Amino acid sequence: MEKTYLMVKPDGVQRHLIGKLVQRFEEKGFQLIGAKMFRLTREQAEYHYEEHKDKPFFGELVAFITSGPVFGMVWQGDNIVALSRAMMGKTNPLDAAPGTIRGDYALNTGNNIIHGSDSPQSADREISNFFRPEELMTGDYPVGLPLN
Ligand code: PPS
Repeated sequence: MEKTYLMVKPDGVQRHLIGKLVQRFEEKGFQLIGAKMFRLTREQAEYHYEEHKDKPFFGELVAFITSGPVFGMVWQGDNIVALSRAMMGKTNPLDAAPGTIRGDYALNTGNNIIHGSDSPQSADREISNFFRPEELMTGDYPVGLPLN
């Protein structure tokens, strides 16, 4: 099953949007297999955004993502990378369609509420930057049934 790493950024946490965002992905039918609130170290942030290290906004991006707690999540589902990015909307909120997360909640490119992996390969790399294997549910687990 395809996995992705989704992260409510510090602005989304500060605006109390965690619940609403989790609800969107649950209602879509994706399965949450790991989640935690934490603060990125500088090393984790620089590794996470390594492909942008030569961009003019890199310093600002690392400062922003380490500025407060984030809510990191690992989700799985068919085609989840592409589908979750469609639900997030375009990076620049000016281009993000109403009904998408950024279209509904974000006002500028820096503070755009949520991050999502852009490929299954990026997802594996990002997940291992933030989660130990034992922090994730493995396989499929029953939904709506008692656990014992
Ligand atoms: S690019 O240039 O197309 O590769 O970049 P893009 O994929 O649009 O964005 C990569 C991440 O950088 C964030 N970003 C910015 N942050 C601060 N200021 C500016 N100007 C800026 N432009 C892009 C953008 O939100 C992306 O973060 P993630 O967490 O991947 O969404």
